[in-house]
Amino acid sequence: MSLFLSFLCLLPIFIVSFFILSKKLKTSKWKLPPSPSSLPIIGNLHHLTGVPHRCIHRLCIKYGPVMLLRLGSMSVVVISSSEAAEEVVKTYDLQCCTRLDMVVTKRLSYGFKDITFGPYSEYWREMRKVAVIELFSLKKVQSFRHIREEEVELMAKKVSALTQSPVDLRNVFFSFAGSIVSRVAMGRNFHDCDFINQKKMEELVADAGDVLGNFTFTDLFPAGGIGRSIDWLVGKEQKLNKVFKKLDDFYQHVIDDHLKESSGRETSDSPMDIVAVMLDIIGRQGTKDYFKLDYDNIKAVLMDVFLAGIDTSVITMIWTMTELARNPRVMKKLQEEIRTTLGTEKKIITEQDLNKVAYLQLVIKETFRLHPPVPVVTRKSMAHVKIQGYDIPPGTAIQLNVYTIGRDPKHWTDPEDYIPERFADSSIDFRGQNYNLLPFGSGRRICPGISMSTAAIEMALLSMLYFFDWRLPDGMKIDDIDMEEIGTLSVFKKVPLMLVPVPRP
Ligand code: HEM
Repeated sequence: MSLFLSFLCLLPIFIVSFFILSKKLKTSKWKLPPSPSSLPIIGNLHHLTGVPHRCIHRLCIKYGPVMLLRLGSMSVVVISSSEAAEEVVKTYDLQCCTRLDMVVTKRLSYGFKDITFGPYSEYWREMRKVAVIELFSLKKVQSFRHIREEEVELMAKKVSALTQSPVDLRNVFFSFAGSIVSRVAMGRNFHDCDFINQKKMEELVADAGDVLGNFTFTDLFPAGGIGRSIDWLVGKEQKLNKVFKKLDDFYQHVIDDHLKESSGRETSDSPMDIVAVMLDIIGRQGTKDYFKLDYDNIKAVLMDVFLAGIDTSVITMIWTMTELARNPRVMKKLQEEIRTTLGTEKKIITEQDLNKVAYLQLVIKETFRLHPPVPVVTRKSMAHVKIQGYDIPPGTAIQLNVYTIGRDPKHWTDPEDYIPERFADSSIDFRGQNYNLLPFGSGRRICPGISMSTAAIEMALLSMLYFFDWRLPDGMKIDDIDMEEIGTLSVFKKVPLMLVPVPRP
């Protein structure tokens, strides 16, 4: 009732803002992208009543590769072809490389002290430089090699103990990817940590993903504090505060844990984790440095790493195993190639085995094409740009529709089918240079975690497919495998993938 009354009170303000906005747009001389019909006040919000990237996919098939949506008072341009994407992330990368100023991202990143959500600025450039050199460089990734090798061995052992019964692969892969990220970021495995365990970590990641993936009313209807009042009435603000508090407590534990230990403990066997590196930088910085880091920066970077680094890899591994289970031809070919290349005597998978199995590289590319973990990548324009002849005013949200670009029939034959061979004899890769395959984005904001995540994903798949055959649970047929998706920022397989591991003959 109170919600209904508040809407009634706010209605006049909504109507006045709508007429002002529509008048402004009608008189505009710009050539704006085509747009689905919109409703007063809410614009096109009513078109997004399902899994968002699927709704957007349907709309852009009808309205074209550059489409304008109005979400409340926010203008969003959706980019759904590789040609338009190239203009955004290459030709106009500098003009289109900032992020949106949103209530949730601002709060969870301690006022944009992170890398992922921070606006493009001198500060962000310094922060990204620190991250790329100190945290995500190839040297750094290689220094964590033993962690991946230990975790992949542990995962194989765990699965060996579960053979002949259905296994929930999300659980297995979360444990693997989460352990790696925890050890790399905080120097501790969550399996032997007194302040976090797998269940709590999964909860934290899920809660944060839930709030991060949704606009608040404040974002959509900022005028006159209208949205803020609605957020408060519907409990969004309270939920955000609760999630922030839980995350902050966790990060504080991680920092306190490090402060208790002696510093400078880097050896070739135990490289410094991300928190230790950042504490070291804080310890070394002078009082006059213009770019200063503090504990909030550590917390904000921990957010980036835990929220960007675990689920994305888990999603990729699950979709790969799902597609292999649905496509026995591909599964058989891949396993044969892995076992022939690595021989039959291996007891453990090591990083020396990486990049040896060419067909696995094709399989991973095909998974990224059909199931990009982040199907829609959001940027914001900082200057007026023209994309495919359409005017994009400064301050417009730009969504790179990676999902639709990966299914564009102009570039992909039989786009809905899982055919890794399409990448054979092709130089197409996912590292940001091919604009029809952009699972990690591209340009200045490209994901800095590509090497870290692909090494872990490849190791995990090698191990699972070398040591085990996989069959569907009794009574289940290939057609019964559910392909429904769920999620907004990152998109999961909705129904858990249950497969039965059978030790290799
Ligand atoms: C399969 C795994 C992953 C996928 C698909 C993925 C995808 C993405 C995408 C699409 C972006 C946005 C890029 C853009 O705007 O152009 C991004 C940004 C980012 N990712 Fe990843 N990511 C993955 C793994 C990781 C890992 C393991 C880490 C770190 C441990 C990481 C850290 C980041 C950070 C810090 C950013 C923000 C970059 C910026 O705004 O400058 N990601 N990622």
